[in-house]
Amino acid sequence: MSLVEWIQLPNLGDHRGALVVAEADKNIPFEIKRLYYIFGAQPDLPRGFHAHKELQQVAFCIQGNCKMLMDNGIKKEEVLLNQSNKGLKIPPMVWHEMHDFSQDCILLVLANEHYDEFDYIRNYEDFKMRGTK
Ligand code: TYD
Repeated sequence: MSLVEWIQLPNLGDHRGALVVAEADKNIPFEIKRLYYIFGAQPDLPRGFHAHKELQQVAFCIQGNCKMLMDNGIKKEEVLLNQSNKGLKIPPMVWHEMHDFSQDCILLVLANEHYDEFDYIRNYEDFKMRGTK
């Protein structure tokens, strides 16, 4: 499976403005149990630096733009999130780092589970060891 996979949400907007719809188990490939959003992030203060053991997520930059480094332990790819209806899948066991946030960036993330610190791998060496086992 490719490291970078996008989800394109329909824009049902008209002359009154945009309207983008995400539906659990339809265009989002899981039941959504949590969403969180990041804003006011600094261009020179990267975030993330972790992988999840099981969590599935999709990230949308609903305003502005930022970059995400994706790393599955074998290859790395850097992508630009800059379309409010184009979501990046963040599968389990993909190390990810977000950086170069625009001033106006709002990053919205949909997740299939509640927050669980035990699902995080925050040490890159641990991630590499688990990934190659
Ligand atoms: P963290 O995941 O480290 O942020 P990022 O990956 O963007 O750098 O989360 C920052 C803090 O917020 C950390 O203490 C965990 C907490 N947190 C929650 O309590 N619930 C959540 O849903 C998320 C995403 C984070």
